[in-house]
Amino acid sequence: MSILFEPADIKGLALRNRFVRSATYDGCAEKNGHVSRRQLEIYEELARGGVGLIITGITYVHPSGQISVFQNSLASDDCIPGFRNLARTVHRQGAKIAVQLFHAGREVAKTFKPRRKQALAPSAVTDDPHFQAPHRAMTEDEIWETIRAFGDASRRAMEAGLDAVQVHGAHAYLLSQFLSPFTNSRTDLWGGSLENRLRLHHEIYRDIRTKAGEDYPVLVKVGVEDSFPGGLEFHEGKRAAQYFSQWGFDALEISSGLRGTGYENTEFRPGINQLDREAYFREWCRDIKRSVNVPVMMVGGLRTFDLMEEVIQNQEADFISLCRPLIREPGIINDWKHDDRHRATCISCNRCFDVLLKGEKLHCVQSISH
Ligand SMILES: Cc1cc2nc3c(=O)[nH]c(=O)nc-3n(C[C@H](O)[C@H](O)[C@H](O)COP(=O)(O)O)c2cc1C
Repeated sequence: MSILFEPADIKGLALRNRFVRSATYDGCAEKNGHVSRRQLEIYEELARGGVGLIITGITYVHPSGQISVFQNSLASDDCIPGFRNLARTVHRQGAKIAVQLFHAGREVAKTFKPRRKQALAPSAVTDDPHFQAPHRAMTEDEIWETIRAFGDASRRAMEAGLDAVQVHGAHAYLLSQFLSPFTNSRTDLWGGSLENRLRLHHEIYRDIRTKAGEDYPVLVKVGVEDSFPGGLEFHEGKRAAQYFSQWGFDALEISSGLRGTGYENTEFRPGINQLDREAYFREWCRDIKRSVNVPVMMVGGLRTFDLMEEVIQNQEADFISLCRPLIREPGIINDWKHDDRHRATCISCNRCFDVLLKGEKLHCVQSISH
């Protein structure tokens, strides 16, 4: 049996294999943030398809961090029953489920008009070629309210029977904005040195532990480098990952931070059509894996079974995390049990993401055979 199908665990959470469904926003939540019937179907199909751990899509912890009207929420107790149902659905199929805890920060401004929602950020940046939407710097009180919201959401996740939480610390959202010297020019305790730019992450971690306890698996997705020159550099992103491991986060998923223009060099690179385009965060992941003591998940363009096996065998990562291949082929993990020569048929056109930007529900737009 391939090492990919061997059971593994994250802080005592037993997983049936090494495959993770990377967090995937699906635009299918109810308007009040509750889990919808459609989402139960999507997650059931994924769990039946063999994946070990499913990470939900971005789930906002506080209304100020909501980025879409069709997004899940764990910002209030009324959201708990829907997630309880979701956890049961996934567990019945033998998989485990973590919820991705999220605050959009200034990215809110891209989807909501300022009158309805004012976008919050570490700092107001006026000369950013990649981002001109209106936003303002958070007050000290707003920062603490946000920290407490992450802790409260974790308590709700536990109550719902979800197996873990993953803090979203990547992809241009609030935690990336605090970490990046490009978007964080604060001169108080929340800006300046790397340690100050990580204070928000640390306080969120501490609040989660206070409210969810020492034994609950707390994961983090970390953007270790921004997609353009002048942003966060890898040496600092790697230090951040090391801090996360030292503080007690139970697994790290390695990705990118702020986005520039277009998709190239971002978390979802297009056109993964040959082996040397695959595993585009492999170098970062390998480097970080050597310098931390917690499981590491590799995400980003993994499509070929042999390559994934090599990554795990060489101890470059502990888990393989997939997003786009599972949108197109939710049963691909079980398919690989019978035919590991099969290469994921996703062509990484990113039209699934464009669909979401138009406010439609997530789906693969390519015909089944091409
Ligand atoms: C449609 C779509 C939705 C996504 N939603 C999320 C999300 O909610 N949270 C997140 O951290 N990443 C999200 N991502 C990024 C993926 O989790 C993943 O990091 C990226 O797509 C690279 O993996 P892949 O090559 O296997 O697709 C999304 C990507 C796509 C294409």
